[in-house]
Formats: sequence, structure tokens, C-alpha cells
Amino acid sequence: MKISVIGAGNVGSLTGLRLAQENLAEVVLIDVAKGIAQGKAFDMEDARSLLNINYSIQGAEDIQNIKGSDIIVVTAGLARKPGMTREELLAKNAQILKDICLNIKKITPEAIVIVVTNPVDLMTYFALKVTGFSPRKVIGMGVTLDASRFANLISKELDVPVTEIEAFVIASHGEGMLPLARFTKVRGKPLDTLLNKEKISGLIKKTVGRGAEIVALFGTGSAYFAPSAAAFDLVKAVAKNESRSLGVAAYCVGEYGLKDICIGVPALIGRRGIEKIIELDLNREESEFLNNSAEAIRKNIDSLKSFFA
Ligand code: LAC
Repeated sequence: MKISVIGAGNVGSLTGLRLAQENLAEVVLIDVAKGIAQGKAFDMEDARSLLNINYSIQGAEDIQNIKGSDIIVVTAGLARKPGMTREELLAKNAQILKDICLNIKKITPEAIVIVVTNPVDLMTYFALKVTGFSPRKVIGMGVTLDASRFANLISKELDVPVTEIEAFVIASHGEGMLPLARFTKVRGKPLDTLLNKEKISGLIKKTVGRGAEIVALFGTGSAYFAPSAAAFDLVKAVAKNESRSLGVAAYCVGEYGLKDICIGVPALIGRRGIEKIIELDLNREESEFLNNSAEAIRKNIDSLKSFFA
């Protein structure tokens, strides 16, 4: 198997390393910045003997090197600066992704595409439209990262090992994300039976703001340890044909009453990409929140349309 990661910044390169460490596939890093991908690939290959990695890790500037890839992970694009929302990256990252997606369409028409670039729900939709690929093959990474953050914060609040928490987040990977306390389980028990409303809304607020909190601490650039772990986890589900339920930005064709939009929903992920979107039995309040989140994405889809042509 061959997996290419486009964009060898912090998220891209760390995703590449995590994939290599799993001995999943030959890894190729692509970055337009001169020497960066090759330098990082050399550095990673130098660690192969220490980390017991057998596959090669290559780096290149030329996107033609993705040829023959089974999976492409797109992380290229600008990251947030302190005070920015993910949506403010829209126009610049659409410009960057357009050429990349046209190349993916031409060079690897069979590949599964995993989009990590922000704003991820919109960039997933954009990648889908530009490649013209089947919606099952274009998957956005976003809400599993948010769920992992939610789980971490719950673990600290309740002093329970994070591995015993199964957190659920849906809707957009942005201000409109919806951490679902009713579906989130701590040692099998729903979170809303363990904490009062006030505590839960505090944890939700922290989860929504976690990415921005880290951006503010860094001063420049955004989070990459957890984002690359979430990207890796998604690629692994595809590469190993796990048919596992993961929160992803998926193209909806009527699920949750939503159409022609990519938004965070739980889905079964396997070798062919999105096997099935899972419809949770949302209550009225949760459905309304999801719809509002979708509306906010939709407004930005309109401004994306000028980039399709
Ligand atoms: C974050 C970026 C990856 O949430 O969206 O940190």
C-alpha cells in the first residue's frame, strides 16, 4: 500500500510519521516548499532502525510523486493565527487546494482522499466537487479530534482514565460543533447522568475553544499532536478496512435531513471510504443545533462556489 500526505507541515509530517510507525504503507510526503518534505523524509527514515519501520518514507516537491497512492491525506494550507476562526482561512486554502485536487483527480483517480485542511467541512465539500469523486471516497477529519479533546477534558473532570470514555461530537469542526453529552459514555454510563448541566456546558465550551486555546498559546501555528493522531486514526480505519464508526465530515444525501453538504457525523469507515453514515436518534434541541451548524456551513459554500469554476 502507498499513502501520500500532501503538506509536510507539522500536522502532515507527524501524520506521515505515525503512519510509518504503524508499518501500514510506503509513505510519501509532498510539499511545495523547497526541500522541506525531502528533509523531513530523510530525518524520518534515519529513525527507521530505532522505530522498527520497514517501509520507505519519501519526500518531494512534485505532486506527480503521489502516483499509485491508495490513500491521499491533504493537510496543505494555512493554519490559524491567534484570534482567527477556521472559516477565515476559506479563500486562501480553497486556492491552495484547487490545484492539489485537480492533480489528485488526474494522477490517482482510484484513491481515497482524507481532507484535514481547514475549514475542514468546507474543504471536504470543495475537494469532493473539484475531484468529482464519489462522496464515499472523500472524507474530512475534524470531529474525531474534537471528540478526543472532549474525552480528555471529561477524564480530567471526573478523574477517570481517558480510555474508558467514549466521546461523541458531531456537526461542524468549528464554532458550530456539537459535543453530545447524551451519547458520550463514561464507563458505559451517559455523561449527562454523571455531571450536572452547568459542568457539562463548561466542558463543551472548553472543547469548542480548545483548538483556539492552543493557537493562542503557540502564538503561531495551530495544534498538531492531536490533529495528526486523529488523521492517523482515520487513515488506519481505511487502510485496515476496519469498518469502524468514526466521526467524519461526510457528504450527506438526506441523512439527518441534510443534503448537498459535508458535515461531521458518525460513519462506518473502511477500505472503500465511508461505508455508511450512522444516524443517531437526536432530540429536538440537538437536531436544531445540527441544522444551525449546517446553515452556517451552507452560507460559506456559496462563497466557495467562485473557486469551483
Ligand atoms: C484544530 C485544528 C486542526 O482544531 O482545526 O486544532
